[in-house]
Parts: sequence; structure tokens; C-alpha cells
Amino acid sequence: NERQEGRPSKQRLLVVANRLPVSAVRRSVDSWQLEISVGGLVSALLGVKEFDARWIGWAGVNVSDDIGQRTLTKSLAEKRCIPVFLDEEIVQQYYNGYCNNILWPLFHYLGLPQEDRLATTRSFQSQFDAYKKANQLFADVVNNIYQEGDVVWCHDYHLMFLPQCLKRYNSNMKVGWFLHTPFPSSEIHRTLPSRSELLRSVLAADLVGFHTYDYARHFVSACTRILGFEGTPEGVENQGKLTRVAAFPIGIDSERFIRALELPQVQDHIKELKERFAGRKVMLGVDRLDMIKGIPQKILAFEKFLEENPNWRDKVVLLQIAVPTRTDVSEYQKLTSQVHEIVGRINGRFGTLTAVPIHHLLYRDYEFGFITSCNSERLLNDRSLDFHALCALYAVTDVALVTSLRDGMNLVSYEFVACQASKKGVLILSAAQSLGAGAILVNPWNITEVAASIGYALNMPADEREKRHQLNFMHVTSHTSQEWAATFVSELNDTIVEAQLRTCQ
Ligand code: G6P
Repeated sequence: NERQEGRPSKQRLLVVANRLPVSAVRRSVDSWQLEISVGGLVSALLGVKEFDARWIGWAGVNVSDDIGQRTLTKSLAEKRCIPVFLDEEIVQQYYNGYCNNILWPLFHYLGLPQEDRLATTRSFQSQFDAYKKANQLFADVVNNIYQEGDVVWCHDYHLMFLPQCLKRYNSNMKVGWFLHTPFPSSEIHRTLPSRSELLRSVLAADLVGFHTYDYARHFVSACTRILGFEGTPEGVENQGKLTRVAAFPIGIDSERFIRALELPQVQDHIKELKERFAGRKVMLGVDRLDMIKGIPQKILAFEKFLEENPNWRDKVVLLQIAVPTRTDVSEYQKLTSQVHEIVGRINGRFGTLTAVPIHHLLYRDYEFGFITSCNSERLLNDRSLDFHALCALYAVTDVALVTSLRDGMNLVSYEFVACQASKKGVLILSAAQSLGAGAILVNPWNITEVAASIGYALNMPADEREKRHQLNFMHVTSHTSQEWAATFVSELNDTIVEAQLRTCQ
């Protein structure tokens, strides 16, 4: 133990997220193949050199035997990861049920499908109990490895109950919680049976962070309206305890993308793609296959554009990269069939013997900002799009379509901009967030408007493209994921210092 040996050590940062940044595949009784994701959170935290980060989370596999749990724990330790083991029943109720069938759609204003509404109401309590149980399992693991002076950073809607569980173990633990999705208006949050318990638990944290000021404001309103607590410019106060609430917009490791473009393998990919789509403008969408991403609406807008602009039919192609996700949840299964049906219809309608207008490609992914929970048996081919191929795709794209219906902070738009230094393609964007200035902003629900924007983007003169790109590029390179993580953690440290100061006075 570094501390006991008296060596100067960095402050330990315990990052707790539902999913570890590693996916584990069992090779035999006692051996595991691990693949690490270098996107999103991982690259953010790699950039924060003053901390020694460890990860606590679910490895995405059910391991019920002792040998499996022991050997997986050992293999993960080499990657500085500590697993939380969840059995199948808990995964079903907590992850597929409460997290992805209740909280996720609610936080994105999607509501529940009408026919499921009553059934969900009935199964709500058991799913919420499983949610609390799962959060307690995460807390047990954190508590086992916690050392005085560690900072604990909890992530996302899966772990709203965690701050309270941790503080019950040790009220001196420094606990931060960050939400990667929108936090809805208090009027929406109000419709959740467990609305108060979740808010109270999150407020046990010392610092609560959101991607945008609006989400932070919604959270504070929910606490004032539902719990009757006081909202202050700093956060939420109740009986002398202040929980700081603030916005920390995430970014990407833009340098990683910019550097990759120089690599010979990326240049080779770029050359191949240019040859393959010579004479056609390339439009690109990259999304998890999720209801919030607005994929059917985007494709219908593209169909409308082709319908109204016959001269473009053989001059443009839409490459829609989709990463199936949460494939055990029925809404996601329905969405997948719906997208396949629409793509098939449009390709049948506008395709020729030699070319189709839409390439809808499913990938099992390790290289974007997330690892997905795709049940690969449901995928016809189990392949991932590697980082270099992705950078090349971004680089050859003329128009990127990022038209989520609602999103926490969409980083595909950032990745696209980082790879566009030479092409200066156009970004069509629905959720303005921080990239508003250089993008064409659209209402993703309005297919006519998106179709018109596609036409505008494809015909945009070079000087306007250049100007818009510069605005986006400046933002992407100056708001990085490393800066985001460093700011959050340093504010978390300061928050505690302030709290301790108050106690001393
Ligand atoms: C969103 C969530 C993440 C999640 C990711 C992939 O970005 O905010 O917490 O990890 O989706 O979803 P999955 O259910 O596969 O972990």
C-alpha cells in the first residue's frame, strides 16, 4: 500500500459507473478476454494526471460462480477496474427495467408506451427495489476499497441512490454525482412514483453536476417544488446542508482525433472511401440505436429530400452507422425493426442496380464514447467499427446529421468537427447545446425543415462552410473532456474543504 510505505501518492479517484470501461468475454473457466474502451470518460480521466483513477462498475456479464468472480476480479485489477457482480434477476429488474424502461425514457421526455403504462405501474415497485439493491451493491464495493482522502465520483441515472448509500457508510466521504442525460422539467420528474427518494439521495452528494445550465435548473426546481427545499445560487439547501449544483459541459479528447487523421492507416481508409463514393456527396449519421436519437425521423427527412430533389438522387448517399443497444428491452427491439423497415422501403424506392441511397450499418462498438449492452446474438454480424475507420468516415463526410430528439450532450457532433479540418463539412444539429454557433440548427420532429436543411447544407458555398466550421472547431478544441473532468473533481475537492471549514467555525 503506497500510503503505508510513505511514498508520495496521488489522490485516488474512485469513478463509479454502471458499466466498466471494459467488456469481458469468458474464454474458459478461469480466463477472460478484456477489451477496453478508450472513448468518453476514460480519455477524460486519463488526461487528469493529478489523480490516480480506479473504476468500479458492472462488467456487463453474469458471473455466478466463485472461480469466475475471482479470476475476473484479478484480470480487471490490471486495468484498475473493480467489478460489481449483478445477477440476472437484478440486471433484468434494475438495468433493463428501472433504468432503461423507466428513468431513461422519462428523463428524455418520451414517456411510456401506452400499452405498457399499466403493466409498468404494477411492476414499478419491484423494479425500484431492485434499483436500490443494485445501488447498495455498488456502495458495498466502494466502501470496501475506500481509503481516507479518496474522492468518489458517481455517474449517471443508474446510480441516483448511491450518494445516500455511501454517506450512510461514511459521512466524511467526498461524493460527487454527475448526470450524463438531461434532467427533465420538474413537471415530468413529478410523475415518477419514487420522485422524492431519488432527489433526497442525490442531494446527499457534496457536488451534483449536469451538462447544461438548464438541466441543473430543472433539478433545483424539482428539489424546491417537490421536496420544499430552498434553491440558492449555489445549489440546494436544507436544514443548513448545502448541496452544490452546477453545469459542467463535457467535451472530447479532440487532439486524439486530430492526430489520428495523420496516421497512414486512416489516410488509407480515407482514400478507399473517397474512391468508393466518388461523384456523390456523403452524409453521415452515427448513433446508438436508441429512441432518443431520432433515427426514423432523420431517415424520413432524407427520403423527403430525395422525393423533392430528383436531381440529387444519384449524387448523395447517407451512411447511417447504428450501434444496437439495450437489446433486451422491447422498445429497442421495436425501434430496430422500424428502422430496418423504413430503410428497406427507401432503398427499394430510390435505389438502382448499382447504388442505394442509404447504407444502414450495424456495428457492435468499442470505440465510441461508450460500450453498449448489445446482446450480440441479435446482431447478424458481430463486428465493431474501429477508431481509425470512424475518423476516416468523419473526415470524408460532407454533411453530418446529428438530430437527436433529446440528448444529454451529443459528442458525435464534436468528433465530426474535430475530423473536418480539411473538408469543412456542414453539421446539421438538433440539440444546440454548446455547438450552436456554427451548425444548422433544426427541429428534429419537423421532417420538412430537416429536408430543407439537407438541401441548404449540400449547396452551401465554401466560404460559409469555412466560417461555420471555424466556430465549431474553436469550441471543440477549447472544451475538452480532460478539462471537464479536472474541473469537476477540483470543484468537488473545494466543496468539501468549504464544508469542513464551516464545521470548524
Ligand atoms: C448513455 C448513458 C451511459 C451509457 C450509454 C450506453 O450514454 O448516459 O451511462 O453507458 O448510454 O448505454 P448502455 O445501457 O449500453 O450502458
